[in-house]
Amino acid sequence: MEILGIDIGGSGIKGAPVDIKKGEMTAERFRIDTPQPSKPKAVAEVVGLIAEHFEWQGPIGCTFPAIVQHGVVWSAANVDREWIGTNGEELFKKSTGCPLLLLNDADAAGIAEFEFGAGRGQDGVVLIITFGTGIGSALFNRGVLVPNTELGHLEIRGKDAEERTSDRIRQEKDLSWEKWAERVNEYINYLEALFSPDLFVIGGGVSKKHDKFVPLLHTRARVVPAQFFNDAGIIGAALAAQVLI
Ligand code: BGC
Repeated sequence: MEILGIDIGGSGIKGAPVDIKKGEMTAERFRIDTPQPSKPKAVAEVVGLIAEHFEWQGPIGCTFPAIVQHGVVWSAANVDREWIGTNGEELFKKSTGCPLLLLNDADAAGIAEFEFGAGRGQDGVVLIITFGTGIGSALFNRGVLVPNTELGHLEIRGKDAEERTSDRIRQEKDLSWEKWAERVNEYINYLEALFSPDLFVIGGGVSKKHDKFVPLLHTRARVVPAQFFNDAGIIGAALAAQVLI
């Protein structure tokens, strides 16, 4: 059984069909730049084009980089503010003509890692943190996700954590891996003090370069890199959309 997974990010919107029994993409992913400004109508058109590219007619799982509660977007840290209060799920159902489930991007990545990746088989509390343009979080207890945790917006040293510690800040400030890892350590130790997870999974685009910084991270909990890197959103969105079948 295949479900189309679509991952909406600040810079790109990408999709691919996913075999949900294996947790694997079955075709090369297709990517279109995120329209700027990223207003609802423009983004919905691109989501429609991705479905069209695959001549898709079945269910779709789609991520969004903000709070998504029952299909409605309730924040806009890295997208146009016109999204706040918009029912993205309804909008994308119309632009694709398919049944569709919309969920937070980090929650989707967490689902992929939990079911088929670095968190597989892990009992207890698992925290997946994605480092990209922002910081996303997915919190699981015994395999059950608490959606929309938004831990990238915890305050650290008087600032939103993602304004100090996202991968975007590492690049903008040209921080060395060591300097950036110090920030990540401070952040995940704070998370550990609040949630006492058994495992941290470090995801997001930067997890491709995990050998440069994950060995420098230390908490009581085990810290491991994600396994799906950039594909976690696509795969997790498709897995989450199984509820539509
Ligand atoms: C948003 C989250 C999102 C994360 C990663 C944050 O700025 O508030 O909803 O999961 O970025 O994209």
